[in-house]
Amino acid sequence: MLNQSLFIKACRGERVERAPIWIMRQAGRYLPEYRALRDKYDFISMCQTPEIASEITLQPIRRFGMDAAIIFSDILVTPQALGCPLRFQEGVGPIFDQPIRSEADAQKLNSSAAADRLDYVYQAIRLTKQELGSTPLIGFAGAPFTVAAYLVEGRLSKNLHTIKQMMYQNPELLHTIMKHLEDVSVEYLNRQIMAGADAIQIFESWAHALSWDQFHEFSLPYIQRIIRKLDNPHKVPVIVFARGSSLFAPSLTQTGANVLGLDWNCSLQNMRESIPNSIALQGNFDPHLMYASIPTIQKTVSQTLTAMQKHSGYIVNLGHGLLPDMNPDHVAAFVQTVQTFCPTGQA
Ligand code: CP3
Repeated sequence: MLNQSLFIKACRGERVERAPIWIMRQAGRYLPEYRALRDKYDFISMCQTPEIASEITLQPIRRFGMDAAIIFSDILVTPQALGCPLRFQEGVGPIFDQPIRSEADAQKLNSSAAADRLDYVYQAIRLTKQELGSTPLIGFAGAPFTVAAYLVEGRLSKNLHTIKQMMYQNPELLHTIMKHLEDVSVEYLNRQIMAGADAIQIFESWAHALSWDQFHEFSLPYIQRIIRKLDNPHKVPVIVFARGSSLFAPSLTQTGANVLGLDWNCSLQNMRESIPNSIALQGNFDPHLMYASIPTIQKTVSQTLTAMQKHSGYIVNLGHGLLPDMNPDHVAAFVQTVQTFCPTGQA
């Protein structure tokens, strides 16, 4: 158990010498060593080959020494395990050629034994744990609404036209689809915990597209039920990341999450004052900060850390993921500033 690591302690709201840091999409195309592997394999094969997934998970840890690793995979492996063929197209992203839009489509979803088809992820977790030593490993799943957004739309969509139509025209159908995703996610996360994940994160990356009422019908109860149904004997911390967190964070405190991941729209300090101290916060630098000069990155990060130092339960991250054209040297400066931060007056 890695109960004494900075990251796990911060997830539990315990006092730590300094705030830990990891970064969403810390493994990916901005790293030359990732691109070298990607030149040889397609994205899905990389996810499905435990040795490669494990190697990619370790790449940013070796280069930057973040305080936690996240297993290399994708949130869309769950619908794939339900029987929906998935492919990734260069310049487009994920594509479901047979999107789920009718009762007949939904009947094809097969959640029985779906989590077994994700065995390659559990194997990748086991392999990675052997290499990581004292660095904790985060497992993850997409929240049902975010995954359904891709499954119903068929591909990345700016305004979620089709799934929003379904919400108004046939909400029962959407609930049926999302129930399958809920079922597979519970089992999938349980199996990741059993394989050795030290924490798990649930990604609700499309929450910001929902109205207040839609969020409380199509997002919150699903996240709540997944967390409630987890068989989590060692109580590994559960992080819920939602875009739209500035609005929905007070509701998300009702999910049983130990940590809330915040997007970059909100004030971290205001959030800290309004969210109970029993819940840790993670985030929330604008990812585009990585395009700033290194001195600007250092100054911005130091200001936030200074403001947050009186609080425990804070994990540094971006408010969303790193992008492919970001400079690894700027990422290095971001990580290093956090890990060497020394508040004025305490040197
Ligand atoms: O380092 C990590 O964060 C772990 C790995 C990880 C990936 N995807 C790898 C990936 C994680 C946690 C995800 C989650 C994910 N996947 C989300 C939720 C988080 C978020 O970004 O909002 C979503 C919505 C997806 C679906 C997805 N996967 C999209 C929309 C895309 C295409 C967009 C893009 O960036 O190209 C992917 C592909 C993907 N997932 C890549 C990586 C490294 C790029 C694949 C490539 O090499 O071509």
